[in-house]
Amino acid sequence: MIFWLAPMDGITNLPYRTIVEEVFEQFWTTGKLRTRTEFMNVNWYMIQPQRLVHHLIFHDQEKKLIAQIYGWVRETLVQTAIDIEKKYPEFMGIELNIGCPSPKVMSCGWGSGMMREKERTLSIIKEISESVSCPFSIKVRTWINEDDKQDRYNILLQAAPYVHCISIHGRTIKQGHSGEVDWEYIRKFKEDVGDTCIVIGNGGIKSFEEAEKRVKENKIDGAMIAQAAIANPWIFTPHTPSIKERYDVIKRHLYLSTAYQLWSQESVPENTDDLSSNKAYLHAFKKYDPNSDESFEFPPLSRHSYKVQMPTKDMIEKKITEISSLTVGKLHSVIEFRKYLFNYIKGLPWSKDLKTQVASINDFETLESAIDTYFTQLLTHE
Ligand SMILES: Cc1cc2nc3c(=O)[nH]c(=O)nc-3n(C[C@H](O)[C@H](O)[C@H](O)COP(=O)(O)O)c2cc1C
Repeated sequence: MIFWLAPMDGITNLPYRTIVEEVFEQFWTTGKLRTRTEFMNVNWYMIQPQRLVHHLIFHDQEKKLIAQIYGWVRETLVQTAIDIEKKYPEFMGIELNIGCPSPKVMSCGWGSGMMREKERTLSIIKEISESVSCPFSIKVRTWINEDDKQDRYNILLQAAPYVHCISIHGRTIKQGHSGEVDWEYIRKFKEDVGDTCIVIGNGGIKSFEEAEKRVKENKIDGAMIAQAAIANPWIFTPHTPSIKERYDVIKRHLYLSTAYQLWSQESVPENTDDLSSNKAYLHAFKKYDPNSDESFEFPPLSRHSYKVQMPTKDMIEKKITEISSLTVGKLHSVIEFRKYLFNYIKGLPWSKDLKTQVASINDFETLESAIDTYFTQLLTHE
């Protein structure tokens, strides 16, 4: 049985994946955990790789990580998959997102928008799978509404021989990220594909026990958790954290996030390739209407040589030791950290007071002190 931390844009970056992996190793040594990056747009990766590469950054001890990409144009998808495999062979695999329901994403033909042209999407899946040698996977959902489920189901069956793994979020596009999950759809799909590919079920899982139950009762290969795993790394283990353990993880996460930002400020290089010709491509893309029947020609894309030397975990740890002797001050990572903190403290006594206080904090020292004061008070009253 394999558990998956679902890819989440703005959440599953290097610091948070590290937290999830550390908690997992501590409390469920016999289990298997896999992780994915946040999804990365392939168009922008071709044009401004220095900005988009942040979605891909990993450290040397992350061995079970999949890079997730999204887009629409065959050439950019295939080229990006090849580029990632060549430059960052440490990834365990590459995954195409065909499930994102965001109207902004879908209106460009990306994410779930890809399934408007099912046959074309199927042929892109085949082409990427034949262009890379690492395992290639797709992440999908049960489509637009109840009426077109069967149609899309058949396309998925045809895709199965070309992919290593299919993760199915058992909700329709209309449902977004909430509502009932169609586990029967996922169960039947696994039954139909058998061992052709790995099938992971996703949607609405709220606990470790529920994840185990879903895998067993649907005879699937693993379970993937997203929203209930935000600031809840223990969900992938049978362990319930004490307040002290929660406090320790929050502090570790804050330091990791800060160290990671300091590392990336110093170590993520600017792009030096001339990619101005690719701007014509972007310009064309802005004019392109995925709903139009007219054929559309995109200008050719230049490949880039941009590559980041990924950090080792030791480098990040070293940065952590430097933090205590620095005045870190205002950092974007502090603002970003608030959303995790709000989830970490949800349901704890006086958490609303801390939330109100933290909402206006944007420097490291004040945030750390607010967290320390809150937990000292909580632990004294325990
Ligand atoms: C904040 C957020 C960001 C997400 N970003 C991605 C993403 O980058 N790639 C992806 O495939 N799915 C993304 N998803 C969808 C989740 O991976 C998952 O399929 C969905 O939330 C259903 O699982 P859940 O019910 O356990 O939350 C995102 C979901 C959330 C809530």
